[in-house]
Amino acid sequence: LPDEELIVVSNREPYVHERVDGRIKLHVPASGLVSALEPITRTCAGTWIAHGSGTADRDVVDRNDRIAVPPDDPAYTLRRVWLSEEEYKGYYFGFANEGLWPLCHIAFTRPMFRAADWECYQAVNRKFAEVVVEEAKSDRPIVLIQDYHFALLPRLIREKLPDATIITFWHIPWPNAEVFSVCPWREQILDGLLGSSIVGFHIQLHCNNFIESVDRFLESRIDREAAAISYRGSLTAVHSYPISIEWPEDEEGRAGAAETRQAVFQRLGLPADVKLAVGVERLDYTKGILDRFHALDEFFQQHSDWIGRLVFLQVAAPSRGTLPAYQQLYRECVELVDEINERYGRGDYRPIVLLDRHHDQDDLAMLYRAADFCVVSSLHDGMNLVAKEFVAARDDELGVLVLSAFTGASRELLEALVVNPYDPSAMGEAFYQALTMSEEEQRGRMQRMRENVRVNNVYRWAGNMLLDAARLRKRAALDE
Ligand code: G6P
Repeated sequence: LPDEELIVVSNREPYVHERVDGRIKLHVPASGLVSALEPITRTCAGTWIAHGSGTADRDVVDRNDRIAVPPDDPAYTLRRVWLSEEEYKGYYFGFANEGLWPLCHIAFTRPMFRAADWECYQAVNRKFAEVVVEEAKSDRPIVLIQDYHFALLPRLIREKLPDATIITFWHIPWPNAEVFSVCPWREQILDGLLGSSIVGFHIQLHCNNFIESVDRFLESRIDREAAAISYRGSLTAVHSYPISIEWPEDEEGRAGAAETRQAVFQRLGLPADVKLAVGVERLDYTKGILDRFHALDEFFQQHSDWIGRLVFLQVAAPSRGTLPAYQQLYRECVELVDEINERYGRGDYRPIVLLDRHHDQDDLAMLYRAADFCVVSSLHDGMNLVAKEFVAARDDELGVLVLSAFTGASRELLEALVVNPYDPSAMGEAFYQALTMSEEEQRGRMQRMRENVRVNNVYRWAGNMLLDAARLRKRAALDE
């Protein structure tokens, strides 16, 4: 594939230039999507098209809005797309994050569909389509479109570049047809996505839901055995590709688990003999953050001898903070933490430490390695990469993963303690099981999970998609 032309499209850009105190600083956003796609974009020396979001983004691009990245060792081109405040508000905050995001997650937050947001969403998708066509150097590039921000883009590109191989990966769940039907523009969304050669989801269930939605709302022919949809004279394959992470390289001279634990405990001012649980997410209502605190409450009620002996460290990176649902979650979260800390705090001891700021990958890896167990209690999640990052960080083969059954990851990490986040007492019992699990059992479970994540890493995710793309292209060449 290195000879093929690769174009990646996502809303988030892989590098953001910010102006801080008059100086330009480079920032790499916290996004699983970005870390998953960087390696292949580099290898293929491709073009990555994304929204230019940084305050200094415009100051560093050439006159075609391009910049070679990574800045210190250029390997591919980042083409930035500028959006007005109004466009961004309607397309990103409005339709994508108040419409499609709650629509696709079973988190019981009512989706908001406003005609004005839909207008912006369409306009921004058109804008990106123009940029893809502008950037394409041939008439049959491979275009990798990322996520729910761009449901209309595949069709718009297909109209201009009929021979392109377009792979659209939907990083979030796809709801069942009945839920999906509440979207006033459901036919347009499906029609847009079916401009793709391949539509990818993390798990088979979401592929099935997507196919059902097409079956219900569009005149199409569906070959269920081949998982292919024939619509408007072309074929779209629907496949699952479980996303993953880059397996960390063995770092020589890296601090051992015990040392890391000591350093983290010191930084947090924790006594050496408490146990540590961690949770790491964007502050998002799909992540079940309040639910895990309720579970902690239950746990302390059932096992009061653990009061004073367990600290729950929650990293909650601010996200989409201008939206009311996120502001409300933040308030509720702080309130609940205060309440629980008051109920079970003694002297200097506080059972929950809430760190509501962004942490970089190295900091997170330290927290994962210092913890006795990690909790991922998403109410619904396409995959969830925190679960895989935790497993990858545990080169000591210890530590327990408590994992929501409603994550894609729970289909792969079978040795985790799988919980229903809507059942706080059962989740509290899983905390107890994690805390009292023998090292031998921890090791047995962790070894198997590590092997799974090591083999099924992000290169396999991207590789499988690109292999399928190569097959389609070969077949098309034979047909010609
Ligand atoms: C989810 C989405 C990604 C998104 C990320 C961060 O994982 O699937 O597309 O980039 O959240 O959210 P944000 O809105 O900050 O990009």
